[in-house]
Amino acid sequence: MTDALRDLIAKRKKETDTVILAHTYQPPEIIELADITGDSFALAKAAAKLPNKRIIMCGVRFMAESVKILAPEKQVILPAPDAGCGMARMIKPEEITAWKEQHPDAVVCAYINTTAATKAVCDVCVTSSSALRIVGKLDAEEILFLPDRNLGGWIAAQCPDKKMTLWNGYCPVHDTLTEEQVLQAKNDHPGALLAVHPECREEVVRHADMAGSTAEIIDFAIKADKPVIIGTERGVADTLTKKYPDKEFYYLCPETLTCPDMKYISPELLLQAINGEAGETIEMDEELRLKAKKSIDRMLELG
Ligand code: 13P
Ligand code: SF4
Repeated sequence: MTDALRDLIAKRKKETDTVILAHTYQPPEIIELADITGDSFALAKAAAKLPNKRIIMCGVRFMAESVKILAPEKQVILPAPDAGCGMARMIKPEEITAWKEQHPDAVVCAYINTTAATKAVCDVCVTSSSALRIVGKLDAEEILFLPDRNLGGWIAAQCPDKKMTLWNGYCPVHDTLTEEQVLQAKNDHPGALLAVHPECREEVVRHADMAGSTAEIIDFAIKADKPVIIGTERGVADTLTKKYPDKEFYYLCPETLTCPDMKYISPELLLQAINGEAGETIEMDEELRLKAKKSIDRMLELG
């Protein structure tokens, strides 16, 4: 990125009262341009309090929707309208309604990686960094957890007093990681620690020194006194290696641990979005927004 482009983005941002949020999987040059970066929980919390009239969400659609749910009076822009989430597409609201009928007393807990329409038929949301705290506090014997079977299994193992029934969804990126690949990486880098996202399969998480959200992985990796193998989408390792050249981080299968939906945004596209020449302004039916907001509010209250 040229200095001229960086300066122009800063100037246009100011002139248009725009704030840029970026998820940790975004390319390093987008992270550098963002005002606020973080995991899904941090971005949702930040969105609820921003003073600016326009918010650009550099991430995927469910993240932009979450911002709109919490800040309806703002113009919320998703620079790349095609940026979705493969996991969020694995469940439909009508499937949840049918599932609930089979478990009438259960509390329905949705991972934040879901559409607004899905959130609207659930009771509470969680993110990977807030899930254990929230599920532990839920006053329910049975919990229907959706859509991620891996995150759900990870929570269930740590909340043995809850009966958790899991939807069979998964992240098409993290779920590809195998136990063999992880053992190979540990063998290639003896003495390194392994940090993974709980969207990975149990057979992978079992070998990790820590499992947590993307922001928790970054925090762990920065503070570690040993090299760290980064077991999540490659954007995290891309930014860590760029920002901390004196520390040792190792990629884990960067070809497969790439979420294509997180890679659409470039500095040029971001400038176009600021100028109103690219991107989609998120619109949402008010009744749907209010229903979805209940699940997110409950998350913010408990998390
Ligand atoms: P985090 O909440 O950990 O940032 O995760 C979001 C995500 O999409 C992981 O694949
Ligand atoms: Fe969705 Fe997986 Fe991409 Fe995260 S990494 S946005 S869960 S597809």
